[in-house]
Amino acid sequence: MPSEKIYILGIESSCDDTAASVICNGKILSNVVTRQSVHEEYGGVVPELASRAHQQNIVPAVHMALKKANIRKEELHAIAFTRGPGLLGSLLVGSSFAKSMSYGLNIPLIDVHHMQAHILAHFIDEEGFDKPEFPFIALTISGGHTQIVKVKDYFDMDILGQTLDDAIGEAYDKSGKILGLGYPAGPEIDKRAQLGNPKAFKFTKPKVDGLNFSFSGLKTAILYFIQAETKNDPDFISKNLNDICASIQYTIIGIVMDKLNRAVAQTGIKQIAIGGGVSANSGIRAALKNAESKFGWKTFIPKFEYTTDNAAMIAIVGYLKYLQGDFADKTISTSARLSF
Ligand code: KG4
Ligand code: ZN
Repeated sequence: MPSEKIYILGIESSCDDTAASVICNGKILSNVVTRQSVHEEYGGVVPELASRAHQQNIVPAVHMALKKANIRKEELHAIAFTRGPGLLGSLLVGSSFAKSMSYGLNIPLIDVHHMQAHILAHFIDEEGFDKPEFPFIALTISGGHTQIVKVKDYFDMDILGQTLDDAIGEAYDKSGKILGLGYPAGPEIDKRAQLGNPKAFKFTKPKVDGLNFSFSGLKTAILYFIQAETKNDPDFISKNLNDICASIQYTIIGIVMDKLNRAVAQTGIKQIAIGGGVSANSGIRAALKNAESKFGWKTFIPKFEYTTDNAAMIAIVGYLKYLQGDFADKTISTSARLSF
């Protein structure tokens, strides 16, 4: 750890959140996220609208992050930005802004891989939150990602499995759409699931080899089930909503826990670090707690504001790369599909 104070600005714009954060030696000083409500009426992110909203939001977000951190831009040591993966137009806004700012201030530019950042968010210094030790297994679950990764070191990671189609959050959101719930539907399905019977209805789990996932078949199974039931009884959904939600949640959690159990058996690693918006799910949290006492797992969940898309996770990676002197060239380009 350096004796001087190192300030890094992190910028995240890979999807529909415009975010900026200032970190000082591993501690977050500000974490600003401007959410884009424009997508709600479409039931999903509209890429063109996201790019435009990033352009509107990025200057105020960065300004606010510096103000909340109580530092001047001239005090920054480097600018870190999300290079990918993500929506290309959205990534271009953040990366172009970061390049201009680092050029203007004559300080290093640092490129960050969004998925590595979700994982390395566990290394933000935060009171009351333990950091995992290497090697550990990371499970990143959100509206955009479903991935199991073996983390051997900060920048030495192997993807063990990922979704072949929809992300887990999409499974929640698309199921919610079928049930007539608002977007995003994950939180409401979770809330109702706690009031319903998880075994009321049975949905078959998709058969996917190894540690990969598939959720599109589940969505179709739910759609056909609801279509058939509402044919018999047009009020089927309203009469059984909590039980339907509980049954969907039970199926999804079953899929996740099956894969995690497999990952533990395959690697012998019992430290599990989760991240992404779906890590807020009460059922997943309960299943992980249960696995701690039953199988001796140790599980890690970061502070919630660092699990959904945010720039604090970009800033911590920026800091770790800064310590290694790992800087980007100013000609670097963004990549919608970026591998590790
Ligand atoms: O990480 P996030 O905020 O944004 C990205 O997708 O990048 O995750 C949002 C996703 C949505 O699909 C939302 O429905 C889901 O996380 N979600 C939940 C819960 N809270 C948010 N899904 C299940 N249970 C929850 N409690
Ligand atoms: Zn993300």
